[in-house]
Amino acid sequence: MDFDASIEEELARSLRSGVFPVKLAYLGPGADNHRAYSATEGYAQSAGDARATADFLSVIFKDGGWDRYAVAELGPGAGHATVALLTRLAVEGVPPEAYFCADLSEDLLVMTAERVAAEGLAVPVATALCDIESEGGLAAFAQTIGSTSARLLGLFVGVTIGNVENPEGVLSRIRRELPTVRDLIITCALRDPKMSGAQIAAPYQNEAKYRNVSQSLLNAGVPKRSFRVETVFDEALSAIVSRAIFEEPAAVHFGGSTYHFEPGQAVRCSLSRRFEPQTFEVLLHTAGFSVAHSVHLNGGALGCFHAVRAGA
Ligand SMILES: C[S@@+](CC[C@H](N)C(=O)[O-])C[C@H]1O[C@@H](n2cnc3c(N)ncnc32)[C@H](O)[C@@H]1O
Repeated sequence: MDFDASIEEELARSLRSGVFPVKLAYLGPGADNHRAYSATEGYAQSAGDARATADFLSVIFKDGGWDRYAVAELGPGAGHATVALLTRLAVEGVPPEAYFCADLSEDLLVMTAERVAAEGLAVPVATALCDIESEGGLAAFAQTIGSTSARLLGLFVGVTIGNVENPEGVLSRIRRELPTVRDLIITCALRDPKMSGAQIAAPYQNEAKYRNVSQSLLNAGVPKRSFRVETVFDEALSAIVSRAIFEEPAAVHFGGSTYHFEPGQAVRCSLSRRFEPQTFEVLLHTAGFSVAHSVHLNGGALGCFHAVRAGA
């Protein structure tokens, strides 16, 4: 598989360090894996009912009395939540003048744009390739968003922050690098205090999930037969963590170097945090946003926050 130089560098770094950031699993065939997974009932359980989230966003819309506006989204996945959101806004009476979305995966951006068109939503879509985890990674998206004179209703970020290596760093970057974003509509998976770690991890211990989370290793050329995947709830990280455990020796040739793995060696290939609502509010606050209101959806499994740039 061919990736651009910065992704190749990240894959090589992951082979060296034994930690593969989740973002690398969305690339290559990972986009199709995600499309298939996000159409399942299990995904709706963890990512939330997109319509309920869209209803939540429309509260802001109603408050604002908008007539000319645009909406933006970071990490739309295959566009399921996007379609629910744009449909909901159209039902309010005035569809947005533009929908802007950014992602690390060009394939997922294309899927999202195609899904919006296939639903007959008459909203112009503009996309930008971006990496929310790298310094300056949002510059192209800032330009895309800046291309309209319509007011920006908000930036929608659905269940992505819990997968990045440094959630606070990413939230601060959004604030710094997207200066026209005042309102953030952001969702995250919540920790259910009534459930044990084993109960939280159980729905993710299946082949479909393993295929998703191990794609980053396959993208780096690690032979599929050389490892199995284990998923547990890590209490210290408050996250569902998947690790690839090598079952046979592997010599991986990538980017001109060879990386050796021995049986029993483990590399982390997925991290999915479960936040306490208060912890998430503190994160937003530290990054320079204050929470205007929040709701818990999906029986308390999903937190949906409307946060406003502090001082705006
Ligand atoms: C869990 S999916 C969320 C999809 C959708 N928002 C939802 O609510 O179902 C995460 C999305 O964020 C994107 N993403 C993950 N890490 C990223 C990064 N570092 N930079 C840009 N996009 C990233 C993925 O490609 C994917 O589209």
